[in-house]
Amino acid sequence: MEIEGVRPVAEILRKAGRVAVLTGAGISSESGVPTFRGKDGLWRQFRAEDLATPEAFRRDPKLVWEWYDWRRGLIANVEPNPAHKTLAKWEKIFPEFILITQNVDGLHARAGSRHILELHGNIWKVRCLKEDAITESFDSPLREIPPRCPSCGEIVRPHVVWFGESLDPDVLERAFASCSRCEVMLVIGTSAYVQPAASLPLYASEAGAVVIEINPDPTPLTSSASHSLKGKAGDILPLIDQFLTGS
Ligand code: OAD
Repeated sequence: MEIEGVRPVAEILRKAGRVAVLTGAGISSESGVPTFRGKDGLWRQFRAEDLATPEAFRRDPKLVWEWYDWRRGLIANVEPNPAHKTLAKWEKIFPEFILITQNVDGLHARAGSRHILELHGNIWKVRCLKEDAITESFDSPLREIPPRCPSCGEIVRPHVVWFGESLDPDVLERAFASCSRCEVMLVIGTSAYVQPAASLPLYASEAGAVVIEINPDPTPLTSSASHSLKGKAGDILPLIDQFLTGS
């Protein structure tokens, strides 16, 4: 398969020591996880204000948890795709490599990535409403809805960032710091619509990084990106890898 611009991007990466990557729902779509704003996107079928806000959870924790239980079940039954796997491989190749993701599906970790900043949390973690303690929970389907804290019995919530909530300041600071240091930033499978994640590539660009977007469709970032590779991440990343590593 020939995709225009792949070879020059591989050449840029070959010379890079510090690489940052921002991923969004598009990278998991080839695994079978729905995106948010695409044709069959979640926010075209469901109202975010009913399911992904603190108010919605206060109003009806059972409804919110039923939706998260459905999403967890969907994700539990899919596998990381070649795009996730290529990024996991690159973590071992580049001297500095940080993977910043907006995804909560945990597929990057399942593919083998270790240096991950999860901006929007993780669907496999729950947070106690009383103690704020965060625990992993892989039950799918959940045994009880809403699920309860194993230590105090209070209801837990998904450890994800909802509309109207702030991101973990430590995670966000580390993401911006990585973007200010990187020489190359790859922006993969995000509509570049949700803040503050959407600011990260602009910040990297202002700090002098080459910004490379991989997405089949144009986004608000496309016109300012140094390179824009049009296509699916699962096709393009392995192709870049072939030029980069010869494997
Ligand atoms: P979106 O659903 O907004 O955008 C997905 C992007 O992926 C689109 O630009 C698609 O064109 C692109 N895409 C689709 N298939 C692709 C493929 N195979 N390879 C590469 N790109 C592909 O998802 P996000 O930008 O991740 O927040 O959305 C950001 C946030 O909005 C999410 O983290 C979520 C949502 O509300 C929270 O839940 C807090």
